[in-house]
Amino acid sequence: MAGRVAGKMALVTGAAQGLGAAQARMLAREGARVLATDIDAVGAAATAAAIDAECGPGTGFALGHDVTSPDDWDAAIEEARDRLGGLSILVNNAGVGVRGTIETCTYEEWRRGFAINVDGVFLGCQKALPLMREHQPGSIVNISSIAGLIASDTMPGYNASKAAVWMLSKSVALYCAKMGWNIRCNSVHPTFIDTPILDGIVANTGKDKSVIMGKLARQIPLGRVGEPDDIANGVLYLASDESKFMTGAELKLDGGISAM
Ligand SMILES: NC(=O)c1ccc[n+]([C@@H]2O[C@H](COP(=O)([O-])OP(=O)(O)OC[C@H]3O[C@@H](n4cnc5c(N)ncnc54)[C@H](O)[C@@H]3O)[C@@H](O)[C@H]2O)c1
Repeated sequence: MAGRVAGKMALVTGAAQGLGAAQARMLAREGARVLATDIDAVGAAATAAAIDAECGPGTGFALGHDVTSPDDWDAAIEEARDRLGGLSILVNNAGVGVRGTIETCTYEEWRRGFAINVDGVFLGCQKALPLMREHQPGSIVNISSIAGLIASDTMPGYNASKAAVWMLSKSVALYCAKMGWNIRCNSVHPTFIDTPILDGIVANTGKDKSVIMGKLARQIPLGRVGEPDDIANGVLYLASDESKFMTGAELKLDGGISAM
């Protein structure tokens, strides 16, 4: 199958819904075989089924996978070896919001946010590299956030965890380069994108979703909240060989918010 990532083998975490599902489907549409993993195994299976329906049987695969579990990572890498035939693209997309200000964020909430947003990415990079080395060129794409680069008084846990993903990505990139491996690692920094993660924010306000979306849109120079494919397009570029000279970099997909 022709396409911008034709013949590549991709694992996308948090692929049951939202950005991960859009990334998995776009990579498949552009010629990759895709293992969609998520702690929500039913949702991951639905994404794989949608991929097969669109791109043909044997294109999409699914696995229940908690990114905070080293054992689950071992199983996911084995699944990639068995089902995809190897691994050349890893998208560490799974992530969660972290509720509370510096006064109200509980230690449990802080730890949960770091376990999923940071430990999950650390484990993904560490566990995937041995198999990715067998299938170079490779690309690791870590989904951070514009909140990893710009702080807010309302989200210290999310800010700090996404900043960790940003710097971790650079260290992994430099390590792979130093080892002489053709494996790149970059981070992606979206602003507000219309996915179920925003439903939590909306629910906390008790207001109508359209009111909140309008408020968020007014903060963005381009005047709208992003769509999942706005991010999937960036992931596709970083996953493909088109970005073969790009590593240790951050791709800001934020409608201009960080230019202000
Ligand atoms: N939507 C946005 O506005 C936005 C903005 C910036 C960054 N991001 C980041 O993009 C990524 C995807 O966000 P989204 O908007 O699609 O969110 P989402 O809530 O719609 O999807 C997140 C997915 O991650 C899965 N997940 C949660 N915990 C997991 C775990 N322990 N192991 C495996 N999977 C787990 C969930 O089941 C869900 O399918 C996240 O890292 C998020 O922080 C989102």
